[in-house]
Amino acid sequence: MDILTTFSASIQSPTIWLTFGPLALSYSLYRFLAVPSHLRHLPALPIFSVVWSYICQEPDDVRIKRLILSHAKKYSEGVVLVWMFGRWTVHVVDPKLAFQVTADVTNFPKDFPTWDLLLTRFIGRNNITMSNGDEWRKVSTIVRDAFTTPIPIDLFTSLAKNIFRVIDQTPLTDNKELKVEWSDLAQRFALDAVGYSVIGFSIDAISTESQFVKDYNMFMRYTADPLYLALPIFEKIIPRKHAFDLMEDLKKRLIDMLLAKRLDPGDDIMSFLLRDPSLTMEDLRNNMSILFIAGHDTTSGTISSMVYYLALNQAAQKSARDEVVRVLGPSASPSLSLMGPSSLPYVNACIKETLRANSPTSYTVPRMTQKATNLGKYYIPPNTAILSNMYGVHHNEAVWSDTDVFRPERFLKGEIESQTKNSWIPFSTGPRQCPAQNFVMYEMRTLASMLLREYEWTLPVDSIHADGIKNACSPFALTLPYNLDIIFRKRV
Ligand code: HEM
Repeated sequence: MDILTTFSASIQSPTIWLTFGPLALSYSLYRFLAVPSHLRHLPALPIFSVVWSYICQEPDDVRIKRLILSHAKKYSEGVVLVWMFGRWTVHVVDPKLAFQVTADVTNFPKDFPTWDLLLTRFIGRNNITMSNGDEWRKVSTIVRDAFTTPIPIDLFTSLAKNIFRVIDQTPLTDNKELKVEWSDLAQRFALDAVGYSVIGFSIDAISTESQFVKDYNMFMRYTADPLYLALPIFEKIIPRKHAFDLMEDLKKRLIDMLLAKRLDPGDDIMSFLLRDPSLTMEDLRNNMSILFIAGHDTTSGTISSMVYYLALNQAAQKSARDEVVRVLGPSASPSLSLMGPSSLPYVNACIKETLRANSPTSYTVPRMTQKATNLGKYYIPPNTAILSNMYGVHHNEAVWSDTDVFRPERFLKGEIESQTKNSWIPFSTGPRQCPAQNFVMYEMRTLASMLLREYEWTLPVDSIHADGIKNACSPFALTLPYNLDIIFRKRV
């Protein structure tokens, strides 16, 4: 027998497979899980602690504080290597290094996941948050232009009044209290505001049980199913017909909205994008879906958290209310000048501190390094996934003091700690930072002012958030409080 025949006979033998099969499997698993040799010089989190955290469905804030920041404190200078969704990713928790990563869009372009998740099928590749290069630049310029139109304070005011109607109509509890499902109402408010800014009309989510909102929420729940996120191949093995039908139906409805908008343009973002003849209907639809997604959970999370922190910190709530009453009086309507940060410094500080303490976007979309880079004292090779971990920066004890304490005074003139000036990055930094930052800050100052003047509020004694804010576990880097009930009391 020649050597080839011996070899082929032996690989058909079950004994060989029984001996080497498990070895081959263990080796493949090791290769899949072990830190690759070119990244071994970076401070890596033990993989099993991260996997366990995902299995236990820990929300990002808990995982970041318990694992990433404590590892950074012990072993690193602002950089931690974390196994995430099947690959090793560098998390940056030092503000200066985060600036470095987000400033250079050429060396750190965004990295589109190679696997086909339901969400990525919905938003496509060609949209403002995921594209790179000229394609991104073109859409980004238009969207940033659209956000320079006057801020719609009157819209925010009327949405706040819609919120009041819902609060006032909430049936009293047995204790005669107005107990409101605040996280749900905050989401409806944010949806209406985003509906207006993106497509130019209110979805009327606050006042009605809109079918669009119900379908959209159900679709988003499908996108976050842990089984299909961990193993996208399941979409082929056990296809989710209803999820796909819903996605197609939502896409069709977005197209219908776009066609209507083309006939009746306004000052909204989609009207600006519709004016560019080089954008196809698919480009427009993908941008519209991502704008909805990028715009509403982030805002609703901030609104929920802000009301939560002010419920827990009655002295801060009182100081904010005193300021609003001083500036707005008992009945004046909010205006652009009155809602500016300098007119309402304390309210503004409460919102900024909320965005620090419970940053709604925990970290950015991962970038992929194009060439070798030095990040602080670390060498980062090309083709390394890397991201700015904003929640980590905001809770980094090397930068901020009393990271878990809600202290709006940090952001007041004269009291700001010198290191924190450039360390507040909830909207990220660099050319790809959030284009809606100014819009959102006005939106929140207006809603906060209206609420503070109209109500006082507290946390129910049996609240699940009584000993600290509880965020939902999100696969999309969102830190959003769930099932947050608030007791409102109308002011006389
Ligand atoms: C409190 C509310 C918000 C927060 C905290 C927030 C945060 C962020 C962050 C951190 C990024 C950078 C993501 C990355 O680089 O991976 C971002 C990007 C973006 N945000 Fe926001 N956002 C908020 C509200 C909004 C709203 C209301 C809209 C639109 C209606 C919006 C539209 C966008 C878009 C289009 C991008 C992508 C920009 C680009 O890549 O050029 N955001 N946002």
